Amino acid sequence: MRVLTGIQPSGDLHIGNYFGSIKQMVEAQKKSETFAFIANYHAMTSGGKDLSRLTMQCATDFLALGIDPQKSTFWIQSDVKEVLELYWILSSFTPMGLLERAHSFKDKTAKGIPANHSLFSYPVLMAADILLFGSEVVPVGKDQIQHVEIARDVATKFNNAYGDILVMPEFRVQEEVQTVPGIDGQKMSKSYGNIVNIFGEEKKQLKTIKKIVTQNVAMEEPKEYENCNVYNIAKLFLEGDNLTELQERYKRGGEGHGHFKIYLAEVMWEYFREFRKKREYYENNQDEVREILNMGANKARQTAMPMIEKIRDVTGIKY
Ligand code: ADP
Ligand code: TRP
Repeated sequence: MRVLTGIQPSGDLHIGNYFGSIKQMVEAQKKSETFAFIANYHAMTSGGKDLSRLTMQCATDFLALGIDPQKSTFWIQSDVKEVLELYWILSSFTPMGLLERAHSFKDKTAKGIPANHSLFSYPVLMAADILLFGSEVVPVGKDQIQHVEIARDVATKFNNAYGDILVMPEFRVQEEVQTVPGIDGQKMSKSYGNIVNIFGEEKKQLKTIKKIVTQNVAMEEPKEYENCNVYNIAKLFLEGDNLTELQERYKRGGEGHGHFKIYLAEVMWEYFREFRKKREYYENNQDEVREILNMGANKARQTAMPMIEKIRDVTGIKY
């Protein structure tokens, strides 16, 4: 089974990205043919600030978190230009109405992001990403389901015109991983300024965690853990007895939320310890990261070439 996903390099990776997406991709490497790329063309649609630095940072983070270049094809979107060619070809199979109905475009423009053409046509580029590599499964967050459905609609229109050429992709949403809350209790998201970084400095991490919004309950009183933002983040890092013990501490009373926050900071710091070591290695060996990305782009291109050749052939772009 061929699994593909992309992530935009539009800011620091946070623990919502990790538990909602990256961890799944790392696990998928064990049993599927996996394709993972940094969607730098996509990041231009939301301003593309500091794009070059963030692209390398995101690639470094991915490698540190367990994307294995021996097992996965891992590259930067802009290194395989065929995707832009397919984007144009697919545009001719994309009705305006399909894009006008896209929630993501409507939400972003409602928030005041200027409605430029790239923001509007972003789902067509995403369809090209998916279809160029014959992807069968696309792991995404709930907000991206509609974009995979658009890719299916566009693929159907193309195939109706030219025969069974494009593979029909399916989305996969990890139901058991709920939305990770941010420090304000809303969905953790770069765009809401409520994130806990994966690779922040220790003191800054603690400072951020101390800002997590909690209920006001006296120190000696028992506390509810189910709806507590600190608990809901901490449980992602804990299992078995450690998790039960934390629940007991809430129920027992005698400790304040401040104690649970310090505990969360410690647990999180420990959880990412090995990843941090790996990150430091790649940070100090950026040439090696570039080499890995080049190798990945070559592998990705090899997969893409037969598909784009076939598409050029049937559409008459090749003459
Ligand atoms: P952001 O909302 O911070 O801009 P992205 O849209 O770049 O994040 O998301 C990249 C991936 O991480 C997507 O697959 C998305 O579903 C996942 N993700 C982002 N935030 C969360 C969250 N709070 N909980 C679970 N998954 C998340
Ligand atoms: N649009 C996705 C996001 O914002 C990123 C992305 C770009 C992607 N191309 C993709 C995800 C192809 C999956 C498949 O999260």
